[in-house]
Amino acid sequence: MLPELKTVIPGPRSQFLGEQLRGYESQNVTYQDGSWPVFWEEARGVNVWDVDGNRFLDFTSAFGVAGLGHGNEELVEAMRAQSGKLLHGMGDVHPTALKGELCARLSGWTFERWGEGKGKVVLSNSGFEAVETALKTARIASGKAGVMAFSSGYHGLGYGSLLGTDLEKFRGPFGDQLAEVTRRVPYGVLDLPNDDTIGAVLVEPIQGRGGKVIAPVGFLAALREWCDERGALLIFDEIYTGFYRTGRAFACEWDGVVPDLICVGKALSGGFPISACVGRAAVMDEWPLSEGEALHTSTFLGHPVGCAMALKSLEIMERPETLAMVERGGEMLEAALRGLANHEGVLEVRGRGMMWGLELGEVPGSLLSDLLARGLLFLADGPEGKVLSFTPPFVISEEEVAFAMGAVGELLDAR
Ligand SMILES: Cc1ncc(COP(=O)(O)O)c(C=O)c1O
Repeated sequence: MLPELKTVIPGPRSQFLGEQLRGYESQNVTYQDGSWPVFWEEARGVNVWDVDGNRFLDFTSAFGVAGLGHGNEELVEAMRAQSGKLLHGMGDVHPTALKGELCARLSGWTFERWGEGKGKVVLSNSGFEAVETALKTARIASGKAGVMAFSSGYHGLGYGSLLGTDLEKFRGPFGDQLAEVTRRVPYGVLDLPNDDTIGAVLVEPIQGRGGKVIAPVGFLAALREWCDERGALLIFDEIYTGFYRTGRAFACEWDGVVPDLICVGKALSGGFPISACVGRAAVMDEWPLSEGEALHTSTFLGHPVGCAMALKSLEIMERPETLAMVERGGEMLEAALRGLANHEGVLEVRGRGMMWGLELGEVPGSLLSDLLARGLLFLADGPEGKVLSFTPPFVISEEEVAFAMGAVGELLDAR
């Protein structure tokens, strides 16, 4: 279905709600500039309706979460059924059967499928928490405090994950409260420093928020070798790229390189805040046996509703139709995007599967608002926000892609 706009964007109700929000929410959270944002009310598949009855096409999958489409009926049903039985449990004290089942399935999806034996899991809520679990695990298992992280890397905004996140605007204000343990290295460069203080190498196999950057062939393999030579642990942050976003179950599978720890979140449940750090069993077993108090846990760990949704989501993704849909969608998206390469201001088209970016010569400025006013939800990435990102739900149709490319092309040429 193509967008249908009933009011000028943002409509009167979105404007009213924006004003209300300005009165009560920290001014740092929701960006508002008069032409942005719209307030969401409902969503199905690729379509999002706002409070003014406008229908938009979502090219963001809402931060990469809704790969299987918004409001997937099987996921909604799994959520309903579970919330009617047990809405909250005691994750690390009196757990549910679902938690064990999800840990086993995540092991099956990662280390077991990669032929590396069992994986063991720590569940958490947001993506950044999974990264922090991985960093703590690496600290314990390697005995070393140093972290290697990469230019334009994004790993979330908690104090621990900021050791990895590169962007100065996020780290700068808190730099004096962060441990100085990070060695930053250019992403994709094969010439790695000699440093035996590093216990964790934290990397996105394909950078997401950093601008849809694919590392050159051999980069991940070089990191693997570097870690093996020095007793450091290789952590792949697949919170954005995981679960078929790049056309394979995980982006690292394009390179055939296996990490020691992998972080997942976002599309794991398709809509409930649940994340996980999965590690090789031997690495995870470096954590001491619990003596009654977990060293790393949280109130909502292994949330039953999140586990039920994640299990259903994995079941859907295991069906051959999902891979077929991603492959079809990826080819369609690539062909359409390559068609934009000659438009005004486009420096590069890059990506993989259902995750693409258009590198533009200048910050798109009003481009995102102009697209919104045409019924298209887009976000920009990259260190300077110059990469227009295309990460739609896998269920997007050819007609919807063609409509969006037409609008993007026209707006670029009119600039
Ligand atoms: C690669 C990567 N890691 C970590 C995160 C942080 O996840 P969350 O926002 O759920 O904490 C993100 C979020 O965009 C991400 O893209």
